[in-house]
Amino acid sequence: MFNLTAVELGSSILGCGDGPAAFNSELSRRGGQIVSVDPLYRFSRAEIAQRIQVTSAEVLEQTRQHQQDFVWQAIASPTMLEEVRMGAMAEFLADFEAGLAEGRYLDASLPELPFENGQFDLALCSHLLFLYGAQFDGNFHLAAIGEMLRVASEVRIFPVLELGNLPSRHLERVMAVLKDQRRQVYLETVGYEFQKGGNQMLVIR
Ligand SMILES: C[S@@+](CC[C@H](N)C(=O)[O-])C[C@H]1O[C@@H](n2cnc3c(N)ncnc32)[C@H](O)[C@@H]1O
Repeated sequence: MFNLTAVELGSSILGCGDGPAAFNSELSRRGGQIVSVDPLYRFSRAEIAQRIQVTSAEVLEQTRQHQQDFVWQAIASPTMLEEVRMGAMAEFLADFEAGLAEGRYLDASLPELPFENGQFDLALCSHLLFLYGAQFDGNFHLAAIGEMLRVASEVRIFPVLELGNLPSRHLERVMAVLKDQRRQVYLETVGYEFQKGGNQMLVIR
């Protein structure tokens, strides 16, 4: 999703809206430096596990109903998607309490982050900004990106499509405002594409 090089994986990384995913666990196991923030982390392991159980059948059914919206290559079928998702979430759950104790999972929400200026090299945000463009307005996007840029030298956001594979209603204005702020802003194609046409990340420095 983020074209991360080995050097970047060795830098100090902030994940925003990381949810019940396995990136933090995997990278930490490999000796990386990562902190993930998500309001989900205010709940206990048992509460998150129960929520995953309750929603997984519905998520699978919705994916089946919208199969034509996705690229079935690396992930060949909805059943395989379910296996990959549940595997990642199991890895997250196994790591969650240790990660909380180590300060790798923090209950915090954009657009406010509990970090010092410039504390991270890279801030990553997947499947939150732009994707939920109907729920979060343009000013929220600008505030969230501004806050990520306060705490990290570089921000990467993936994808830049909305749900239903629609072009983001906020992208053009957000890019224009950031350019006016003399930021370096560009779209980069990445290797991962699951939502059809969703193979670009926004990079801001
Ligand atoms: C669709 S999930 C994406 C999870 C993960 N990044 C991924 O790509 O698989 C969106 C996540 O954003 C989190 N979220 C919602 N509002 C947020 C906010 N204001 N700040 C940070 N995270 C938020 C949700 O709790 C959820 O875990």
